[in-house]
Amino acid sequence: MIYEGRMERLSCLLAISAFESVEALVRYVPELIMWNRPQLPRIARGKEALKLYEEGWTIYAKGIEQFVSEVKPFLQSLENDLGLGAGSGFCNVFASKAGTGANPHFDYAWGFNIQLRGTKSWYLTENQFATHPTESGGVGDLAEGEDRFYTTGVYPKEMPSPTMEKTIGPGSVVFVPRGVWHRTAACEDSFAVSLDMDPKPWLDWVLKEIRNCLLAREQWRECPLGVRGSQEDRERALNKLQALLKDLPQVSKELNVESILSMARGD
Ligand SMILES: [Fe+2]
Repeated sequence: MIYEGRMERLSCLLAISAFESVEALVRYVPELIMWNRPQLPRIARGKEALKLYEEGWTIYAKGIEQFVSEVKPFLQSLENDLGLGAGSGFCNVFASKAGTGANPHFDYAWGFNIQLRGTKSWYLTENQFATHPTESGGVGDLAEGEDRFYTTGVYPKEMPSPTMEKTIGPGSVVFVPRGVWHRTAACEDSFAVSLDMDPKPWLDWVLKEIRNCLLAREQWRECPLGVRGSQEDRERALNKLQALLKDLPQVSKELNVESILSMARGD
């Protein structure tokens, strides 16, 4: 999961002007998420972000491909190499002062963390609490989003013992699979770029196709009138819903697998 290589091979990434320095990054990205647990994350811009960074807050620049277009070819190459749908990739940048880092958490996407400057220690281990997560999570979090449907509701107070620990420097790439617990500690001032892949779960693509199929059916385009009305209204709504649900097995037979795959490919 960790590849240590020569920095020279990343020269094209280093040539991106937004990656020249923390100051350059802040110029390119209008809003930055700032981390400094146990305080809550906050949004900062420009000089305020730089001030917080000097005070020990980690800069988390999310989805920077929107502002730094030179990143897009790298994301597209990775999508192609991995055979993932077009548009699956996004790019985050993390800048941390020495002695700070990310608290234990896991992500819903696969991350390729490329260390450009400074050294950083990584701690990783498997996740027994959430398999194939659709949302990120952190230690002590309450699973209050859609993760409540696939976890026990509360994440552990501490990250399980790391099965992998490694201090890496410029030129190294750390691959963090979706859902794997990890935390980091910057040994020196650290600047890292993460190329992340989120090809979306099957359920998202299938639901889109189901919706398309249902849109073609007149009765499914009706609205649930009367669901809060009189007893008679409510019974009428219930009967209507039951009739609709009886239609679902037939709908599932009509789903177009090529249409689903086409959407997943990003055609
Ligand atoms: Fe992460």
